[in-house]
Amino acid sequence: MPTLNDSARAQIDDIVSRYPNKKAALLPALWVAQEAYNGQLTREAQAEVADYLDLPRAEVEGVATYYTMYNKEAVGKHHIEVCHNVSCMIFGADALIHHIEHELDIVAGETTADGVFTLNRAECLGACCNAVAIQVGGTYFENVRTKEQVDKILTELRMAPADITPQAGLGNLRTV
Ligand code: FES
Repeated sequence: MPTLNDSARAQIDDIVSRYPNKKAALLPALWVAQEAYNGQLTREAQAEVADYLDLPRAEVEGVATYYTMYNKEAVGKHHIEVCHNVSCMIFGADALIHHIEHELDIVAGETTADGVFTLNRAECLGACCNAVAIQVGGTYFENVRTKEQVDKILTELRMAPADITPQAGLGNLRTV
C-alpha cells in the first residue's frame, strides 16, 4: 500500500524549508504525495500530508479537491490530458480527442482495460499560443495539430518504461 515514504518526506521537508510556513508549502507537498501514491492523491494521502504539515485534514482536502491536477481517482500509467479550451478547440482539439478515443478504444474520462492510458479533456493548460496542448503526466506536447503527431505520441508512450508514474518528468516540454 502506498505511503509517504522517507524519500517523499525528505522532499516535503526540503520544500517546507523554502517557504515561510508549512501551509504555504501545501500545493507542492500534495504533488509529492501524489507521486508517492503512484499518481493518485487518495484521501489517505491527503490525510498523511495534513498530519505531516500539522494542518487540518478538512483544509487539505478542500485544496486537493479544488485543483484538477490532483488525481482523486486512479489514473493509468500515462495520463493524457488534451486541452479543449478556445485556442486548442480552434486548432482541432476535438478531432484529436476523438482520434485518441478511437485508438485507445475508450472515451474521455476513462482508463484503458490494461491500465496503461487514461484520457481526459482539460481546460486551458496555459499553452494557448502553441495550441493544441496535450499534457501527459509532467510532460507537455505543444503544437499538436495532426493525427499523425498524436500517433507518434501514443507510440512513444507505449514504449515508455513500465515504472514511470503518471506525473513523472515534471516540467518537460516536448515537440512532435
Ligand atoms: S486554450 Fe489550450 S492551452 Fe489554453
